[in-house]
Amino acid sequence: MRMIKWQNGTVITPDQTKLPLQEVTLEIKTVDQMAEAIKTLRVRGAPLLGAAAGFGVAIAAYQSKAKTAAQFLAEIEVAGTLIKRQRPTAVNLFWGVDRVLNKAKAVKGTVEQLKTAVIQEAQAIADEDAAQNRAIGKHGAELIKDGDTVLTHCNAGELATVEYGTALGVIRAAWEQGKKIKVIADETRPLLQGARLTAYELKRDGIPVTLITDNMAAHVMSKGMVNLVVVGADRIVQDAVFNKIGTYGVAVLAHEHNIPFYVAAPKSTFDLTRKASEVEIEQRKPEEVTHVGCQQTAPDGVAVYNPAFDATPLKYVAGIITESGVYTKKHFSKFNPKFLL
Ligand code: MRU
Repeated sequence: MRMIKWQNGTVITPDQTKLPLQEVTLEIKTVDQMAEAIKTLRVRGAPLLGAAAGFGVAIAAYQSKAKTAAQFLAEIEVAGTLIKRQRPTAVNLFWGVDRVLNKAKAVKGTVEQLKTAVIQEAQAIADEDAAQNRAIGKHGAELIKDGDTVLTHCNAGELATVEYGTALGVIRAAWEQGKKIKVIADETRPLLQGARLTAYELKRDGIPVTLITDNMAAHVMSKGMVNLVVVGADRIVQDAVFNKIGTYGVAVLAHEHNIPFYVAAPKSTFDLTRKASEVEIEQRKPEEVTHVGCQQTAPDGVAVYNPAFDATPLKYVAGIITESGVYTKKHFSKFNPKFLL
């Protein structure tokens, strides 16, 4: 199912903050609404953010009353800057904005022609992501054996992408091949993407899923209950994989228990010009830690540290499953900007 659609200047997508209790559809009509939806995680997950970024700029293009190409380019640049400012870690957000802006700059034509080019490029990002996730699923499913139990962290599913999912795309593909697999989903404190979104998606699709709290991962691994870990990514740099906070801990635990730890992500999530130390990790508000939902669970005024992502060094990663195949340890030493060209 398509998670994001363009309909005559309006972007249609589920409000992920309402799931799993309510299925609410957002109709995003302005760049400000798109910015708000990204900031508040109504729209979330790296590949979906790439498509949302493209469509966000497309809204500005669609609504533009610019008389000249220069004016038009200036307007959509402002929209792109606003969208990029919402979240710092997932590289797809920046990639999506830049891709449509660069397309517009490359077209030498009338304002109408530029508008069409921007909207078509945003649509192309979405269409390509859907196809890439199927390819990721196909490559990744080969790593999963009949009867395996796969642990995942956060939500790298259909909801986090345009269609099908990355980590959950791998699981979905294995399931569709008839492999009798099971999934263990970490709840993923503090925002519970595992409990709210991964458990929802898998349960809806009839894929056996068992929910655990994050601090149970070591226990289930030590009991031999996990054959493989697969997670998504927000940014893959030369020496590490950025993903939802807690991923690094899962990777270290998997290493200790000799369980292969895989990352599934499209190449739009690669940022091989950078090292981990150069990436900004989003810091989120204290209330996400001091409260569970609306219920306060910590004393007033306690100091809180709330990073949304962490960096897993590549030494813990058995392979990165992409649309072009699986990059394994033997490729990692070659991870430089030219590697994937
Ligand atoms: O803060 P979120 O919910 O946007 O974080 C999402 C994740 O960390 C996902 O694992 C990642 O974006 C991969 S989604 C295919």
